Amino acid sequence: MNKTRHPVNLALIGFMGAGKSSAGRLVAEQLHFDYLDTDEMIQSRTGRTIADIFEKDGEPAFRKLEQQLVEELAARKRTVISTGGGLPTIAGNLASLKTHALVVCLWASPEKIWERVKNQTHRPLLRGPDPQSKIRELLAAREAFYRQADVLINTDLRSAREVAQQVVHQFKLAQSGQQ
Ligand code: S3P
Repeated sequence: MNKTRHPVNLALIGFMGAGKSSAGRLVAEQLHFDYLDTDEMIQSRTGRTIADIFEKDGEPAFRKLEQQLVEELAARKRTVISTGGGLPTIAGNLASLKTHALVVCLWASPEKIWERVKNQTHRPLLRGPDPQSKIRELLAAREAFYRQADVLINTDLRSAREVAQQVVHQFKLAQSGQQ
């Protein structure tokens, strides 16, 4: 990481089912940081579910809400920010997060992602007839964005606790300027 950066926050990016929320909550606990989730914030502000926003207003409208929120996050301190899986694909979002946060990508293989999300129904992008192909397709299209994170952690063989430990370790390294 660039030596002139001094991250005060920690942002978790990565595909749906990569474990951002579960690891993120543990990281926040361990660092005594606040925790926030961009999807949850959008839902509480609009009083609507993500699925409803996608269905009635379309994905671009949802991405605008995400983008507005990302801009506000620069004012946060000592916060673990868990982001929606598509957030890094919108121009400027990653650069904005990097001005104040260490950006950590939680990576998972398409098989592992499927295993984790197959019994969940709240994600509009995986509601089509062939969610497994959709996961492979979206992951391939997004890989280049996820790789722009400061740190990449493979979560396939790690528990949420182990992932959290790695994230905390990387954050402490970044803060001490050793990364
Ligand atoms: C999305 C991921 C979701 C949510 C929305 C779109 C995506 O968040 O933002 O359904 O484009 O990958 P999670 O990654 O928390 O599931």
